[in-house]
Amino acid sequence: MKFRNALFSLLALASLVINAQAQDIEAGKKKAEACVACHGATGNSAAGMFPTLAGQNPRYIYLQLKDYKEGRRQNPMMTAIASTLEKADMQDLAAYFGSQKQVRSTFQADPQRIKAGAAKADESLCAMCHMGGMTGQNEIPRLAGQHPDYIITQLKNFKSRTRHNDAGNMTSLAQTLSENDMENLAHWISSLY
Ligand code: HEC
Ligand code: HEC
Repeated sequence: MKFRNALFSLLALASLVINAQAQDIEAGKKKAEACVACHGATGNSAAGMFPTLAGQNPRYIYLQLKDYKEGRRQNPMMTAIASTLEKADMQDLAAYFGSQKQVRSTFQADPQRIKAGAAKADESLCAMCHMGGMTGQNEIPRLAGQHPDYIITQLKNFKSRTRHNDAGNMTSLAQTLSENDMENLAHWISSLY
C-alpha cells in the first residue's frame, strides 16, 4: 500500500512537471512574436546571419539570453532585445523554441568539405562536448543542421575572442582552426540532421 501511494505521488508530480512545461511553451509562443522576424516563424530562420533556434537545447537558449542581457555575449540586435526580458520570459522562450521542430536546411553542402569537416571534427574531439551527431546537451549547444554562415561567424568570433562567454573551451580550440577548417566544419555540421 505504502509503495502504491509513493508511486501515485510520483506520477502526480510527473504530470505537474509536464503541465508546467506545457504552460511555459504556451507562454513562450506568445512572447516569441518579438523574435520571428529574424529567427523565423517556428525558430527556423531563413537567413544564415540569424541562428535557427528550433530544437536548440532550452538550457543553452536560456543561458545565452541571460549572457546577452548581462553583457557577457555582445551583439547589437540581441543585446537590445534581451535587455527587455525577465528571467521567466527567457525560460518560456527557451521552452518554446526548444520544443519546435528543426526543419532540414536547403543548403547544398559540398561533399569534399563534408568529408574534410568530419575528419577535422574527429581530430578536434568536437563530439566530446557537442555529443555524437552534434546534438549537444543542456548548456552545450546543438550544432546539427545550423546555418553554415552562422557557424563560421561564431568560430571566427571565438578565435578573435569577440565572443568569450564559453569559459575558454571554444576560444582556445578556435585558435587551432584555419578559415578553411571552419568552412569545412560548417559544411559538415549543416549536413547533419
Ligand atoms: C532583429 C533581429 C533579431 C531579433 C528580433 C531577435 N534576434 Fe536573436 N539573434 C539575432 C542575431 C543576429 C543573432 C546572432 C548574434 C551573435 O552573433 O551573437 C541572434 C542570436 C540569438 C540567440 C543565440 C543562439 C545561439 O545559437 O547561440 C538566441 C538564443 C536568440 N537570438 C534568441 C532570440 C529571442 C528569444 C528573440 C525574441 C525575444 C530574438 N532572439 C529576437 C537577431 C535577432
Ligand atoms: C571542451 C568542450 C567543447 C569542445 C571540445 C567543443 N566545443 Fe563547441 N562549444 C562548447 C560550449 C560549452 C559552447 C557554448 C559556449 C557558450 O555558452 O557560449 C560551444 C559553442 C560552440 C559553437 C557556437 C554555437 C552557437 O549556437 O552559437 C560552435 C559553432 C561550436 N561550439 C563548434 C564546435 C566545433 C566545430 C568543435 C570541434 C572543432 C567544438 N565546438 C568543440 C564546448 C565545446
